[in-house]
Amino acid sequence: MIEQVPGKVDMDKLVSLCKRRGFIFPSSEIYGGLGACYDYGPLGVELKNNVKKAWWKTVVQERDDMVGLDASILMHPQTWVASGHVEGFADPLVDCKQCRQRWRADHVKDGKCPACGGELTEPRMFNLMFKTFVGPVEDKASIVYLRPETAQGIFVNFQNVLTSTRKKLPFGIAQMGKSFRNEITTGNFIFRMREFEQMEIEYFVKPGTDEGWFKHWVEARFNWYCDLGIKKENLRLRQHAKDELAHYARDCYDIEYLFPIGWSELEGIANRTDFDLKQHAKYSGKDLSYFDDETKEHFIPYVIEPSAGVDRSILAFLADSYDEEKDKEGLRVILRLHPALAPIKVAVLPLSRNEALLPLSRDIYNSLRKCWIVQYDDAQSIGRRYRRQDEIGTPFCVTIDFQSLEDRQVTIRERDKMRQIRVPIEVLKHTLEAKLCGEPLDVLPPGGKKWLGFEAS
Ligand code: GAP
Repeated sequence: MIEQVPGKVDMDKLVSLCKRRGFIFPSSEIYGGLGACYDYGPLGVELKNNVKKAWWKTVVQERDDMVGLDASILMHPQTWVASGHVEGFADPLVDCKQCRQRWRADHVKDGKCPACGGELTEPRMFNLMFKTFVGPVEDKASIVYLRPETAQGIFVNFQNVLTSTRKKLPFGIAQMGKSFRNEITTGNFIFRMREFEQMEIEYFVKPGTDEGWFKHWVEARFNWYCDLGIKKENLRLRQHAKDELAHYARDCYDIEYLFPIGWSELEGIANRTDFDLKQHAKYSGKDLSYFDDETKEHFIPYVIEPSAGVDRSILAFLADSYDEEKDKEGLRVILRLHPALAPIKVAVLPLSRNEALLPLSRDIYNSLRKCWIVQYDDAQSIGRRYRRQDEIGTPFCVTIDFQSLEDRQVTIRERDKMRQIRVPIEVLKHTLEAKLCGEPLDVLPPGGKKWLGFEAS
């Protein structure tokens, strides 16, 4: 059952659009699915890649103080002892003595089973890490865990990165990849999954400078969502209360989004102090300190950790961009996705299937697809094809008509206000490039002219 906030896009509509248009499918659906696991379809995988690309560009590519990493999912089991996950990464669970259903103790209100009102057992701690075995023998010595967060892969590589890159503090390491948690409370589509992706940063700083860097990252991460089109009124910061903070954390903010299920965490930014590096130094016996050339001191850096979920970001981008407009043809469904995130950047649409239009249309398609993911569509009326592209968030359609054969000009139609400009084919690629980077539609290239829809805007 999916909960729903009144006035927000209906979660069922999103789920249905995602399935119908090939964004997201339930995992192994032909066998009835697997709880809280989902597959990204042809458009979904493009959207996901674009979200990750946008994050990597902002936090690694455009910064001098950041480097990337791709650590393995399976790690030495001591990692999870040192990090505290073996001991403490657990939810309290209760079982109903009558119907045998299992619940998270903190989600049960009056001490009775929410399904049948039956009596509940005492809470027992349930570790959320998935276990498996390395090698052929399934005994205690060969147990390994599927990582429940990507962060520890960064901490255990701190010295490797430091020595190989000769980075000086402050600097950070970014990593994105799969994480696994045997979640108990599921059921809100891709909000909480058992297999999901994270985008995490561990930013190492000199103790004493941590508060300033913490503020920097809270602001930077909040702005990232806004820059990619999320409406400010649907985002807020929530500082953790003292009794909510992990024992090692100095401060923590959640960036919350108003999901269809209500305000919930999209990303957490924590000041983790020197806890993690100290723990790994203790359990591994290795020196994980930093030597400051200027002050000639050895110390363990403090860490600021902005930790985001790829899938949760995708849900926020989809929910925020979903829109409907009534018009004379019925309902126009639009995903007003930022061009950087849109799975298809441009659709090439010959006005009809008339053979005369084919060579020029295919030429244009073949030249544009070298730059972006472009879709060619000549099935059904031009109006329906525009609608199909609006629904998957394609920012621009290029239409080739009979006049194009005479004057070598084509029409660019934008998604949000359906305005059109007419441009010479030789400047088409550059014009699209500029528009995809945010240039307003009414800025015209040489030989271009305003076409349809400008009067109304
Ligand atoms: N290293 C810190 C850490 O993992 P977290 O708050 O447990 O912190 C960070 O997770 C982010 O990962 C969350 O804000 C959320 O976006 C995402 N996330 C966590 N559990 C998730 C799940 N079961 N399904 C989808 N995303 C999840």
